[in-house]
Amino acid sequence: MPGNNAQILKDDYGFDTAAAREELVRLAHAALGGQVLDVGTGCGSMAVVLAQHGFGVTTVDFDAQAIECAKLRAQQAGKIVADRIRFVRGDALRLPFEGQSFDAVFSFDSLHHLPDCNAAVEEMLRVLRPGGVFAAADVNDEGARAIDEVFARKDDAHFHNQCRVDVIGKNLGEMGIQYHRHRLEFVTVFIAAGPVENPALGKPAG
Ligand SMILES: C[S@@+](CC[C@H](N)C(=O)[O-])C[C@H]1O[C@@H](n2cnc3c(N)ncnc32)[C@H](O)[C@@H]1O
Repeated sequence: MPGNNAQILKDDYGFDTAAAREELVRLAHAALGGQVLDVGTGCGSMAVVLAQHGFGVTTVDFDAQAIECAKLRAQQAGKIVADRIRFVRGDALRLPFEGQSFDAVFSFDSLHHLPDCNAAVEEMLRVLRPGGVFAAADVNDEGARAIDEVFARKDDAHFHNQCRVDVIGKNLGEMGIQYHRHRLEFVTVFIAAGPVENPALGKPAG
């Protein structure tokens, strides 16, 4: 969510978006120094946090303006952080990466923008190495209500698509993947290990 909306959520609702991103990294327990993918990077807040934790980060977003915003944020975070981040334009539902390319796949506050959770989860698992870390966090119903209110104050509307955060757990369960679910106030987190026999691997990228 844009920086000023994050400030309103903190001041008026007591929800700290930056702390939730940090908590997502902590819950993921991914080893430092791995190669991670950040799906739906937006203006780059999660990507910068991941780079600050020492990961090599590949970002993917289909919006060129968001990518420019994320590049600027990375530069503002300093050369060491910026040099760890690679920006890719692409669709979360057809990730432009080989299977098993990443040690961890993260997504924060993005999946509700997508038309199809199942396809997104499958793609995230496809590009995850066996035993890698799947770490997705998105707004839950309470968070969505708060964010809708924050947008409405500015006569703006918060964009929602078909994907709802609880469906992520259902999708993982249907694929036989065990997961941990955590609630961080306005966001719900799903942490899972990439399967050794990866059910999503059969699907081609393009
Ligand atoms: C709220 S922003 C992401 C916030 C960001 N992850 C953070 O940590 O602050 C959601 C992003 O998802 C992107 N997005 C929506 N649909 C997408 C798709 N099909 N493929 C890739 N990116 C997509 C949008 O362009 C937008 O930049």
